Amino acid sequence: MTFVKKLKHEAYKKIQYLSFAQHNKAGTSGLITRLTGDMDSIQNGVNLTLRLLLRSPFVVFGACFMAFRVDPVSAGVFIGAVPLLSIVIFGIMLITIPRNRKIREAVGSALLTTRESITGSRVLRAFGREQAQVEEFGVKNGVLTRLQERTGRISALLNPLTCMIVNTAVAVLIWLGAKRVDAGIISCGAVVALYSYMSQILVELVKLANLIITLTKSFACAGRVADLLDTQPEEKPAPAGDRDTGAFIEFDNVSFAYSSAGEPMLKNISFTVRKGEKIGIIGATGSGKSTLVDLLAGFYNPVEGRIYIEGRDIFSCTDEELAHRIAFVEQKPAIFKGTVKSNLALGKEDAGEEDIRAALGAAQALDFVNEKENGINSVTEQGGRNFSGGQRQRLAVARALVKDADILILDDASSALDYLTDSEMRKAVSALDYSAVFIVSQRTGSILDCDKIILLEDGRASIGTHAELLENNEEYRQIHLSQFEEEGEAV
Ligand SMILES: Nc1ncnc2c1ncn2[C@@H]1O[C@H](COP(=O)(O)OP(=O)(O)OP(=O)(O)O)[C@@H](O)[C@H]1O
Ligand SMILES: [Mg+2]
Repeated sequence: MTFVKKLKHEAYKKIQYLSFAQHNKAGTSGLITRLTGDMDSIQNGVNLTLRLLLRSPFVVFGACFMAFRVDPVSAGVFIGAVPLLSIVIFGIMLITIPRNRKIREAVGSALLTTRESITGSRVLRAFGREQAQVEEFGVKNGVLTRLQERTGRISALLNPLTCMIVNTAVAVLIWLGAKRVDAGIISCGAVVALYSYMSQILVELVKLANLIITLTKSFACAGRVADLLDTQPEEKPAPAGDRDTGAFIEFDNVSFAYSSAGEPMLKNISFTVRKGEKIGIIGATGSGKSTLVDLLAGFYNPVEGRIYIEGRDIFSCTDEELAHRIAFVEQKPAIFKGTVKSNLALGKEDAGEEDIRAALGAAQALDFVNEKENGINSVTEQGGRNFSGGQRQRLAVARALVKDADILILDDASSALDYLTDSEMRKAVSALDYSAVFIVSQRTGSILDCDKIILLEDGRASIGTHAELLENNEEYRQIHLSQFEEEGEAV
């Protein structure tokens, strides 16, 4: 148990430090099975190894040794039986280990469906997809069962095969012993002793054979956990030297693709941000807005180009340094189970009540938090599901504002807010002292007062102020006019 406790600890630690790219590759449910089911199976394996496996060889070889002392000729039967048994046991083990690995993968895939259908149950019901979901699970469950049946058939051969070998050996032993007693070479007692050594071996090997089935499962799980532990943290490319262009943040010819083979999402993006500027990022859905701010936060590494903060290549900053400087509100913010206060304390551990109220106030969250019975000590359920979408967004903004950072990134943080609340929030944020604020939005209304606006289109960036883009950029004009006409928003 102590071993598995340490193993879990290491695996958990590893997961915390995986890069986002590695995280995407391993998948959430895959990582969860490694920490739960796989660990149980390893614990079982280690436990049985310590209790049974280490004892068996002593009994088997001890009994063989004693049999030789009784009568070397009859004990020759043991010499034939033991290697044969070992071949059978290890042969079956070799065949079943890879199959058990496949079984674990099938378990992971069934788990993924289960997880998705439970977390997404509202959507699935709203779309009447229950039946399809049941069928999909049926298919995966069927695959799993077939794999288990096939492997089970091979494992099931183990007992009959070992019993057959041992019982044949016993028969030969008694026949041989009887002849030697007849010839007056050994006593009847010696045959009884030899037979009892043989049964000891039998009992031990049957136990061992059953153990092997558990052990092969356990090995498969151990392999998966070992793969996770062997994953090296993604190496950052070698940093470029410092450069002093006077800009606070500089994107220098940055390109990015999610997979090395894929079409780049962002192509040759270059821009600079002076200290104290507010930057708006706009573009159609999927145009790479979130990707752009993720790069700045160091969540992914650009495939080409450099990003500098105060003249320092961010590749030369440690994750802690970056995390310390940047306050980030994700597009889909995660609220954790706890209280409003504990969620905000993620931004700053020693945040006092004053800090928290100030941040909630700026994020326009104070009213609804105060309306709750326990104020800032109100309970937040898992995923913040006892709050509305817009309330969750405001809690996430407050969490970022509590943090002492000098760069603030709001990735579509007001998409669920009404225009009035959105504008109040932007006003309050503008009054705060940040060296740079990035606002990602779909609405031109939310970014028109920014010092610079980056319009993303087909991976390329057009940069300018609201007035400049309105005059020179057809796409921006289209976006703005469509919203202006529909929403009747003041320019
Ligand atoms: N983890 C990922 N793996 C692979 N491709 C991704 C990943 N995340 C995003 N993409 C792709 O990158 C592109 C840009 O995504 P991004 O999230 O940056 O868009 P966005 O501009 O923020 O859109 P939205 O306005 O909908 O938030 C999309 O086409 C998307 O398919
Ligand atoms: Mg986005």
